[in-house]
Amino acid sequence: MRIQMTLNGKRLEEEIRPDLTLFEFVRAHGCFSVKCGCETSGCGLCTVFVDELPVLSCSFLAARADNKEVTTLEGLPEEAEEFGTFLAEQGAEQCGFCNPGMIMNTIALLREKEEPSDEEIKSYLAGNLCRCSGYEGQMRAIRNFLSWRDERPGAAVIRVRDKKDQKSAGEEEDSISKETAAGGAV
Ligand code: FES
Ligand code: FES
Repeated sequence: MRIQMTLNGKRLEEEIRPDLTLFEFVRAHGCFSVKCGCETSGCGLCTVFVDELPVLSCSFLAARADNKEVTTLEGLPEEAEEFGTFLAEQGAEQCGFCNPGMIMNTIALLREKEEPSDEEIKSYLAGNLCRCSGYEGQMRAIRNFLSWRDERPGAAVIRVRDKKDQKSAGEEEDSISKETAAGGAV
């Protein structure tokens, strides 16, 4: 079957196998930040955005991304650097394998929620497994990022989306993110 997609800003059109996963597709296009830790929707490492919403690409057919916009960490260099610095400062990247998925879902959270509580952060990132840490470093990194952002209104790259964008994301939530977005372990 033939699909069209915008991947990290680049328009693509190609023939794919009907059973090709989005994970396989983006990796085949050089998006090596996207990792596979389980292939069963249990670890969050394979998180990408489809039309701005986080999905688990190991469990999402590439065919479903037809005519959609797909973004990986390679397409978010400023956001990745901005939050990645806070993770590194807190020693939250031991082997680093979980970091791309953690950063993608943190970006998604902070685009949705201006000031998430600790419980909201834990709930949102519950699907991101880290085998090296107890998640405290990640929590500190997010809290520190929020404090830093509060002190510099307008300076941060990662910001909450406006109401209109949030509404349209919410409308799509049932069809995409609920079935595939991270859901499991901080
Ligand atoms: S590889 Fe673990 S959730 Fe996709
Ligand atoms: S830092 Fe190694 S899995 Fe998270």
